[in-house]
Amino acid sequence: MGDGLQYGPSQGYFPLINKWRDFQSRWHSPPFKNWDVAVVPGSQDGFYKILDLMIDEGDPVMVQAPAYAGTIAAVHAMNPEYIGIPQDADGIIPEEIDRICSARQNDNLKLPKALCVNPIGANPTGSVLTIDRKKEIYKLAQKYDFLIIEDDAYYFVHFLDHQPSSFLSMDTDGRVIRLDSFSKIVSSGLRLGVITAPQEIINRIIVSLQNTVLHASSLSQILMFKLLEDWSSEEFDSHIKRVQSFYKCQRDLMIRSMDKHLKGLVEWSVPKAGMFVWIKLNTKKNSLDLVMKELIPNGVFIIPGSAFDYDSPQSDSYLRLCYSFSTEEQVDKAMEVLGTILRQSIGNN
Ligand SMILES: Cc1ncc(COP(=O)(O)O)c(C=O)c1O
Repeated sequence: MGDGLQYGPSQGYFPLINKWRDFQSRWHSPPFKNWDVAVVPGSQDGFYKILDLMIDEGDPVMVQAPAYAGTIAAVHAMNPEYIGIPQDADGIIPEEIDRICSARQNDNLKLPKALCVNPIGANPTGSVLTIDRKKEIYKLAQKYDFLIIEDDAYYFVHFLDHQPSSFLSMDTDGRVIRLDSFSKIVSSGLRLGVITAPQEIINRIIVSLQNTVLHASSLSQILMFKLLEDWSSEEFDSHIKRVQSFYKCQRDLMIRSMDKHLKGLVEWSVPKAGMFVWIKLNTKKNSLDLVMKELIPNGVFIIPGSAFDYDSPQSDSYLRLCYSFSTEEQVDKAMEVLGTILRQSIGNN
């Protein structure tokens, strides 16, 4: 306990670092051998630190589009040349990356330095990037020489029969920087995430930690270590199964309620992972106006699609629904309110 109230090493509490090294070997067995890990105060902080180290103003950077609002904010802060990579129900589309990079090559433009991707349970779309696409994208990263920043906060929060594999697990070259988060499987308030990357990059992250927060909270790290130490790998696995089954129930109750109240009014695909349903409005309504002027005054808070867009378009027609912890009654009430408002707006068109 004494250690939890003291300063500690910037890379992280060593017993936790060792645990996480073992953990990454077990789940990803990275083919590139010279990698290491650093504990950061949340994967969002890790993402910002990586961009801060790697991206200079004006550098071209590819970002999954739409993207998590925290990703957009961090990328924005670097003032890069932003290149959005569209996605469908199977995640980002490799052909788009190829098309964009080869056009830039032909036009003698700088090639993108990095691809920022949220592959499993993408926030906001709920898509899971298929393994075939991951392999294609890794080959493209080799062809056009870009880094892959794998922001995988929902790695374990999926509803598939098998654990999808990671970019880290196919990284032969040392071009993947992976972000893990404890927020979605243990506690978001602990503020703990882990960067896994080639040693050279981890060394620079350690300097960045020294110069900013010194290190992630000692108390949180020790709590996390004790928990992981207490669990056998079977116990960890059954904890993950419980997390998955909880969020699958939450997803199913949200989809049931959408079927009941929103059929014909919006389009969606059933999320394969994560905590969100991304819906497209069939009316011409602007989703920001809908949220601000009609949903919030009726006690329903939903995030408008423009929050996940780098350029915040004026006429956005998407909403992100979140099913993480609302009760069945709350979800059903919210979907009923949304359905009623959308039905009225069709009547008024
Ligand atoms: C895609 C994605 N990355 C990162 C984060 C932030 O995770 P952390 O709590 O570890 O900073 C979130 C949180 O919602 C997220 O959705």
